[in-house]
Amino acid sequence: MDAEVFLTHSNVSDDDVQDRTVVVIDVLRACSTIVTALDRGARAVMPVLDMAQAGKLASNLDPDVYRLGGERGGEKIEGYHLGNSPEEYTEDVVQGRDIILNTTNGTRALRRAREADTLVAACFLNAGRVVDFIRRTAEAVTIVCAGRQNRLALEDTLCAGLLLDRLWDGSEPYPVTDSAHTAYTLYHTDRDDLDSALRGANHAEWLSRQSYEADLDYCFRIDELPVLPYYTDNRLRLYKDAVSSA
Ligand code: MLT
Repeated sequence: MDAEVFLTHSNVSDDDVQDRTVVVIDVLRACSTIVTALDRGARAVMPVLDMAQAGKLASNLDPDVYRLGGERGGEKIEGYHLGNSPEEYTEDVVQGRDIILNTTNGTRALRRAREADTLVAACFLNAGRVVDFIRRTAEAVTIVCAGRQNRLALEDTLCAGLLLDRLWDGSEPYPVTDSAHTAYTLYHTDRDDLDSALRGANHAEWLSRQSYEADLDYCFRIDELPVLPYYTDNRLRLYKDAVSSA
């Protein structure tokens, strides 16, 4: 399978994603939160760029049907219902509701890729579901790692490497792009002790210092949730819901 990888979302343009099947990865923590919210019954997650966009969307919705979630500097935004810890997105909070999600990197990466022909959100939790979907529906894929503050994030790169390893059945084709080769090779270097490698990532160490250790335990689980967040009409929904209402 032909694969392109962007190791951060910062320079991704509309031309890079148009007519492509695109997978956006943000392991810590936006995509893990999105997958969890949809698994627990949220109707949709609307990724936004900033406070203004979030506020505008909220002002047009019935207060009972939406919840505002997200973070700045890792912490819940003042006035929002929820932060960016997946564990906050419990069934009783999200069931049947739309989540407006505003995060520093992940939701921006999703917005940046919104001109894609097909756009899905990925993390370790739903890696298997994403790989199945790509195999069945695409001959080429563009993976966009959210990264962190315009820099590579190890956890996103390793997740991209794991997806490629599965899509390529454990054997790297030739030729591949340098960034796809980098993600794949890094995953092969670290896969025997992936958990240690992930916990040593800068973002993981930072979240650990902020007492978000439980989020790391959760976000680093692989193939835990067979959930496919599929982007259409400016929101992510479960693939089956998005397709059945199309
Ligand atoms: C982000 O989108 O930047 C992350 O989800 C940040 C975080 O860990 O809360």
